[in-house]
Amino acid sequence: MKKQRVHLKAPDNWINDPNGFIYYKGYYHLFYQYFPYGPRWGTMHWGHAVSKDLVSWEHRGIALYPSRYEDKNGCFSGSAIENDGTMYLVYTGVRYEVINPEDPHTCLNDQFESAQMMIYSEDGFHFDNENGKEVIIPPLTDKNMGDRTHTRDPKIWRGKEAWYLILGSTVERRYGEVLFYQSRDLHTWTYVNKAWKGPDYGWMWECPDYFETQGGKVLMISPMEIGKTDEKEKNHAVCFPVEFDEETCKMDIPDQYQFVDYGLDLYAPQTTTDAEGRRVMAGWIRMPQPVTDGWIGMYCSPRVVERRGNHIYFHMHPNIRAAFSKEISDVSEASADGYMAKFDLEDGEEADIGGFRIRRENGRIYTDRTNVYPAFPGAHLISETPAIQDGSRIEVLADENLVEVYINDGEYVISNTVYGIRKTAGLRGKGTMQLYTLEK
Ligand code: FRU
Repeated sequence: MKKQRVHLKAPDNWINDPNGFIYYKGYYHLFYQYFPYGPRWGTMHWGHAVSKDLVSWEHRGIALYPSRYEDKNGCFSGSAIENDGTMYLVYTGVRYEVINPEDPHTCLNDQFESAQMMIYSEDGFHFDNENGKEVIIPPLTDKNMGDRTHTRDPKIWRGKEAWYLILGSTVERRYGEVLFYQSRDLHTWTYVNKAWKGPDYGWMWECPDYFETQGGKVLMISPMEIGKTDEKEKNHAVCFPVEFDEETCKMDIPDQYQFVDYGLDLYAPQTTTDAEGRRVMAGWIRMPQPVTDGWIGMYCSPRVVERRGNHIYFHMHPNIRAAFSKEISDVSEASADGYMAKFDLEDGEEADIGGFRIRRENGRIYTDRTNVYPAFPGAHLISETPAIQDGSRIEVLADENLVEVYINDGEYVISNTVYGIRKTAGLRGKGTMQLYTLEK
């Protein structure tokens, strides 16, 4: 099956969120929201890719597909854990209450119901879609708790005394919230508590993820309609340094958030722990249109998430940096999987990555993709970081459709979808640009 390096991309047709990211029995498994019948969103399946090192990926076909009453219109996002050698996947099963006469693959006027479901595997490759699925949390019936339609994307983790699950939902479709559940045996789940911030933080919180790093606890969510009103894309992934108590499931969320990625193309990220115990993240990079050979949707390079004080860093994963081991003098020598460019950027200086511009001004980094992106109404062309603190070091990972700009070892990252960057790279500044590519 198709192999890819650094940036995992749709094998064909459409992909969105990363799901069930886990290091299990010697492989990284990364499942993904997949529509196998066209380059557009529709009835969701879970596609499956595996990697030994987080650098080279192999697509392994479809792992989950709609097969039960509760998930007959889609297997929405979810996560994975290992217990006693067995892999468990939890996800949201979606059932439409009416059939859309125009298109059976999308829902009419939000008339659907969501149940949280589980399936397991003994090897990470075989899933019994016909007989192995179980409903662990039925559609919500209590409006005070959450929405029976918009409640989804269970993320599961092992706490000190029990299993925990965080679920995204909405309060009366006015503002987003997360619900916390606890279980002793993975099958029976008890609701414990919820957390929310109110109307300025989006109306529905998708794909919540909660985890601890050495420097503290982090909540990552993808709120719907938190963004600027004049841009087409208003859903953005954000993160907060939080406090959380497992016994009561009480979470304190501060007012201030960071974007997970300042390119604002990254959405629905999910983390797991890597073979060395680092907190590693995968994230969907949205694309406004398919590429010429008909696929749409890709993932950022895996990032190590770390909280230091109240700031959350997204470092390039060491395996990725190590893979770019071959120094080259010109990007025309780069492999098909792209190249890495390293340089320093002082105020007023600018780099050009095949038409994609990276500039530093007033202590911030700006990118401009006007020359390498379609012009459609509301297109987000210029990205900008907050004021940077940690230096002026830039590391760029670039291939034909994705440019990632790591600033000061992950103080901030800007990732942008591009179409047709040229095979050139240059720097207008005092320093020099080093270029690296992958070994064949
Ligand atoms: C986020 C999301 C999730 C949902 C999935 C459906 O992009 O809307 O909330 O589970 O995509 O594909």
